[in-house]
Amino acid sequence: MTTTPSVRTFPASFVWGAATASYQIEGAVTEDGRGPSIWDTFSATPGRTLDGHSGEVAADHYHRTAEDVAMMKDLGLDAYRFSLAWPRIQPTGSGAFNPAGLDFYSRLIDDLLEAGIDPVVTMYHWDLPQPLEDAGGWPARDTALRFGDYARRVVETYADRVKVWTTLNEPWCSSYLGYGSGVHAPGRTSEVDALRAVHHLNLAHGLGGRAVREVLGDAATLSLTLNLHVARADDPTSAEDRDAARQIDALANRAFLNPVLDGYYPADLLEDTAHLTDWSFVQDGDLDVTRTGLDVLGVNFYSTQRVRRVPPGVEKSMNDGHGASSATAWPGADRVEFLPQPGPYTAMGWNIDPTGMTELLVGLSRTYPGLPLMITENGAAFEDVVSEDGRVHDPDRVSYLHRHLDAVGEAMDAGADVRGYFVWSLMDNFEWAYGYHRRFGIVRIDYDTLERIWKDSAYWYRELVRTDALPAVESAPDLA
Ligand code: FCB
Repeated sequence: MTTTPSVRTFPASFVWGAATASYQIEGAVTEDGRGPSIWDTFSATPGRTLDGHSGEVAADHYHRTAEDVAMMKDLGLDAYRFSLAWPRIQPTGSGAFNPAGLDFYSRLIDDLLEAGIDPVVTMYHWDLPQPLEDAGGWPARDTALRFGDYARRVVETYADRVKVWTTLNEPWCSSYLGYGSGVHAPGRTSEVDALRAVHHLNLAHGLGGRAVREVLGDAATLSLTLNLHVARADDPTSAEDRDAARQIDALANRAFLNPVLDGYYPADLLEDTAHLTDWSFVQDGDLDVTRTGLDVLGVNFYSTQRVRRVPPGVEKSMNDGHGASSATAWPGADRVEFLPQPGPYTAMGWNIDPTGMTELLVGLSRTYPGLPLMITENGAAFEDVVSEDGRVHDPDRVSYLHRHLDAVGEAMDAGADVRGYFVWSLMDNFEWAYGYHRRFGIVRIDYDTLERIWKDSAYWYRELVRTDALPAVESAPDLA
C-alpha cells in the first residue's frame, strides 16, 4: 500500500522572511560620510580574511536597494531582516549623527513598506565604529553607553515605521570570536576581554531595549538574536562529559539568556571563570538594565556540537567547534574538547543535524514558557555552480532548508511558540573571515557583474511562502 506523503502546513500568521547584514551586503564603505568599522580594518589586515576579501563592494546593495526590494516582493516575503551600519549613521560611534546614513535606511524602510514587507531591524550586526574599538572596544564599558545613545537615536528616527527591533546579532560571536579566538574583528585574543565583552554587550542590549520600550511603549516588539549552542555530551552517561556540555551551555547560552531574561549571571559560569576574573566589571544596577525581558527571542541555528571532558595533562585537539583552532574562544574551558561531528556537512564544514533545531526550540519553550521564538537565521553554504542553462541548481540547499523547516514544525507540534523563519541569506554576501568564498544566498551574486540570479532554492522558498505548505520531509533531496 502506498501512502501519500503528508504536507506540513504553517499557520497563516507565520512570518516568512529573509535576512542579511549591513557589512555583508552594502559595499559603499566610504560613501556619504560612512566612517570605518572594525571589519574594514580587520579585512584590510593581511591574513585576516581569505584572499584579503573585504566588504568594500560586497553585493553593492547600497546602490541597488530598489532592485533588491523588488526581488523580495517577487519572492513574496512577509518581512526582511537587515541591520543598520552604526558607522554609516554615527561615523565615529559617538557625537554627531550622519543625516545621509539615516536617510539611506529611511528610504529602504519606505521601499519595504511600500512593497508590503515588514522591516525587522537589527541595530548591531558586528560593524563597530573603529574609533570605539580604538578606545577599548566591547571590553570597555563606555562602548555599551555609546551604543545606548546610538540605539535611542535610531529608534526615535524610525519608530513611526519600524516596530520590531533587535538590539544585537549573536553577541556570542562579537565577544568570543572578536576578543577570544580573534577569528573575527577586531581579532584580539584575551579570555578576560571576551568575558568583559559579554557583559558590555548584555548591557548594550539593555540600554537599547530601554530606548525601544520608552519610545514605542506597547507598540514595541523587542528582540535579541542569539546563536544558541546545542552542545551534546559525547558520552551522555559520563558525568565528566555532561559537565563539559554544561560548561559550554553556560558560556554560550546562559551567559546571555540569564542576564536578559532572569537578571543574573549563572553561578557556574562565574565559578568556571573565577581564575580569570572576579566579574567586578558587572556594576551595581547593571543586571536591572540587562533584564529587559523580550517580546520575541531571535534564534539563529546552523549546526550542533559534541564535547567531552579531557583530563589534565592529556592533549586535546584545538578545534573550537567553529572550525577555528583556538582554545580561547571559550574562556576557562581549556579542558573541554570539541569533537568532529558526523556528516553530512555544508561547505563551511558544519554538520547538518536538524534534530538540533527541534531540541533547541523545545528546550527553550520549556525553560521559558510563554516566550515567543523567531528563527532569525538558518541556511547553508554549498559550492554552487551556474549550469549551462544559466540556472543554479542547489538541491543541497533546498534539502537543508526543507529538513530544518520540518524540524521547526516538529518543535511547534511539541508546543514551541515559533512565530516565523528568516532564511540566511537573501543573497550571497561577504561571509566574514571566509570572504566571498562561501555562498549562503538563495539568490546568487555574480561578483563580476553584480547580477542577481535566483537559485532553485529561491523558487522553492517562494512556493513555500505562497502556500505555507511544506511537502513531506521524505521528499526532500538526499544530502551528500
Ligand atoms: C551567522 C551570522 C551571519 C552569517 C551566518 C552564516 O553567525 O550572524 O552574519 O555569517 O552566520
